[in-house]
This record gives sequence, structure tokens and C-alpha cells, in this order.
Amino acid sequence: MTTLLETPVPAAADHLTLRRGAARVLLTNWTGSSTVPSRGLYPHQWSWDSAFIAIGLRHLSVRRAQLELESLLGAQWADGRIPHIVFSPAVPLDAYFPSPDFWRSSTEGAPAGAPAGTETSGIVQPPVHALAAWLVHQADPETSRRRGFLPRVYRGLVAWHDYLTGRRDLGGGGLAAMVHPWEPGMDNSPCWDAPLARVKPAPPGSYRRADLDHGQAAERPTDLDYGRYVRLAADYRDGGYADVPGGHEFAVEDPCVNALLIVSEQALARIAAETGADPAPHEERAARLTDALVERLWSPADGMFLCRDLVGGELIPERSVAGLVPMIVPGLPQHIVQALLDTATGPGFRLGEVPMAPSYDLTGHAFDPSRYWRGPAWFNTSWLLERGLRLHGHPRTADALRSAMLDAAGASSFAEYVDPFTAHARGTRAFGWTAALTLDLLAAHDRTPGHAGDPGGTSNGVHT
Ligand code: SER
Repeated sequence: MTTLLETPVPAAADHLTLRRGAARVLLTNWTGSSTVPSRGLYPHQWSWDSAFIAIGLRHLSVRRAQLELESLLGAQWADGRIPHIVFSPAVPLDAYFPSPDFWRSSTEGAPAGAPAGTETSGIVQPPVHALAAWLVHQADPETSRRRGFLPRVYRGLVAWHDYLTGRRDLGGGGLAAMVHPWEPGMDNSPCWDAPLARVKPAPPGSYRRADLDHGQAAERPTDLDYGRYVRLAADYRDGGYADVPGGHEFAVEDPCVNALLIVSEQALARIAAETGADPAPHEERAARLTDALVERLWSPADGMFLCRDLVGGELIPERSVAGLVPMIVPGLPQHIVQALLDTATGPGFRLGEVPMAPSYDLTGHAFDPSRYWRGPAWFNTSWLLERGLRLHGHPRTADALRSAMLDAAGASSFAEYVDPFTAHARGTRAFGWTAALTLDLLAAHDRTPGHAGDPGGTSNGVHT
């Protein structure tokens, strides 16, 4: 088999076409104040999508990238949570399910501080936002300072991290917990099969899936999974979106979420220093989170991080790409970094051999190359691994992964995800973060003479 290291880097002309294509997706998906992940399947603003999109949008329009994050923070709840969806009132209710009349945030979420004038969901998504804000600032520090961008977002980002490390430390061990499979962003990952098996699904006739109007059923979560998603969301809503230790039928600690929290906390330290605040509390919290991540989620036998089920109390014996993402954390012990690299390039994930990192162990019992987060390769997780490889001194492998991602993005029309073996498109097309991260990889590629160096210095996870 041809390895990634032998894959030719696309010629400059191809890059121009790719850049234009990616820009077109972001222009088409722009609503005036934010970007929808997809015009059909996801017609509102999504939280971690917006953060990844801002990271790419900064190469097209710094002002739009700032607005992307500011509009999301505009819907933040008073308890600090950033909701996973901010609904557009212009979109018909039946275009997406669960719609605002399901979540009823402005009434049911009022005790938790949901805004009165904007409808949102009541759950959260991974905290990529402070990292995104710092990268957006770095794209044009002068404009950022002139517009007071960082001082405007800093308080909200601090409140967000306070929420995650405070009310969401449901396990009491110093990590943020997620209370719904949509929160870690990898909805139907096999990691959730066992914790979800305890949940009684909502009756099939009680709701209508709008996602199947836009996607193939074989590439989406099953009806049984959906019934459980609906039940958990309804129960959380009916409890006033309260976060209660021991009070959730589904509660997990996820290594990708917490790794992103660490890198974002480090970004907050830089934002604090830039705005005249004290960076030390952020650096200290990042160090505490790193210790807790290793203590609670590292599995030496697997050579990767696993998720922890807070209801059963055990590590979940399923190997998903979430367990490799901590590669982006700068302060990990060297033996853990080496084990992560070995696992990423070993038979389960075959980085350097298959085009992009699969979302789940290729040899795992639940592996499916086409179904959402049960095997397909996604661009955001590959983008994170690319940064991790660079951070830990593997620029050649990172360069090769970047080339493969650029090829896959163009050939798949900026697909939501791809088959991990063939890189054939799966899910929806013209997907926001695929286009945005393509722009980011292209910009980094242009700064890398000979494609061998380390663009912009990635001596830690938050540099551009
Ligand atoms: N990813 C979920 C969906 O498919 C919710 O964020 O709608």
C-alpha cells in the first residue's frame, strides 16, 4: 500500500481552486452574523462548529471570524454555559429536530439563566472557543486590538470555563462531564453504547427526525439511538437544565472535551496577558486539568485515553479518536505522548497509512466505515491530530496528514466526513468546518517552505 508519506502535495494551482471552493462554502453558509454548518442538515448556529469555522474564517475575514464567536457568546446563559445550538428565528420549526419548541430554553432554562430573547438548546459542546478566539486575534492583532475583540470575549469565555470546571465537575475529580451524547460532539460513538443502553428511548411516534430528509439513514445514527437522545434531552429540560451530581442517567468524562478545555484554558492565559488580566490562574487550572486527565482517563493497557462512565464509575473499553486528541496538550508526560503516537500509527488508527484518522478503532467490534462517529474520518479531529503531531515534533507525518486532508476535502466537495479507507464523501456536503479547516491548513501550508517545517511555531498547543 502507498503510504501517506509518499502522497504528493497538490500543486499550487490545485490549492487556488481548493481555496476558492472552501471560501465559496463559507460565503454560502454565512447568515449575516454567523455560519451554519450546512444549509440543509444543520440550518442554525452550532457551538463547536462556530469555533472551528472562526479558525478558518479568520483567513477570509477577521471581522466575520470575530462576529462568529461574538454572536455565539451573545446566547450564553447566565450560569456560563454556551448552548450547543443557537436557533435562527428565520428558519421554520420543522427544518431541524429537536427544534426550539422542544428545548423551550427561554422558559424551562430560565432558572439556569437562559436568555429571554433568544431560543437555544440547553446542552453544550466541546470548548474550542477560547482557542478559536486566540487564533482569530493572532490573524490580525492590530484590528483585534482596535476593535477591542479580546476584552469583549474574555469575560464570557472565563464564565464558560468556570461552568465546565464547576457545575459540570459531576464526578468530583476535576474534569468536565457531559450529560448527553450530543455534548462531546461524537453523537453515536460506540463509547456511548453501554451508558446509553440504560436509557429508555422516547416512543418513536412522539417526534419526527428531520435529519433523514437530508442524509442517508446508513450514514446517520439509528432510530434506537435517536429515541434515547430525545429521552435524555427531555429529561434534562424537565429538570430545569440543572446539573446535579448523581442526578443524570447519562454522565461521562470525555478525553477530547477535556483536552480541548486544557488547550483553551492555555489560550485564556494568553488572552488574559494580552488584555492586562492575570494569566496565572488559567495556567494553574490548565495544569490541574492535565493532571486530572491523566489520573482519570489514561489507560496504559490501551496506549490511549478512554472515556469514563460516571454512572457505572468505570472506564469505557471502547477506543475512539477522542482518546488520541489529547495529543494536542503540551504538558503531557513523554511516555504518554509516545504511547499516543504508537497507538495512532498502530493497527487501530493507521495514521500515515489510511488517508485520515478514523473516528473509531478500525479493528473494533463496532467499526462501521460510513455511519457518523462509528468509523468515518472527520476533518476537525484530523486537524487536531495534525496540530498534535506538529507540537510533538513529527512535522513529516503532520505534513502528510495535512496533504491527505486537503485532497479529501477537495475530492469530497467539503464533505462532513469521509470513509477512512477510501476518503469517499459521507454525510452532507459543503460542510462549514471542513471548508474552514481547509482554509486554515492551506494558510499553514503556504507558510511552510518545502512543507517540512513547523508553521508559526507550535511549541505549544495554542500557537497559530
Ligand atoms: N449532531 C446532532 C445532530 O445531528 C446534534 O448536535 O443534529
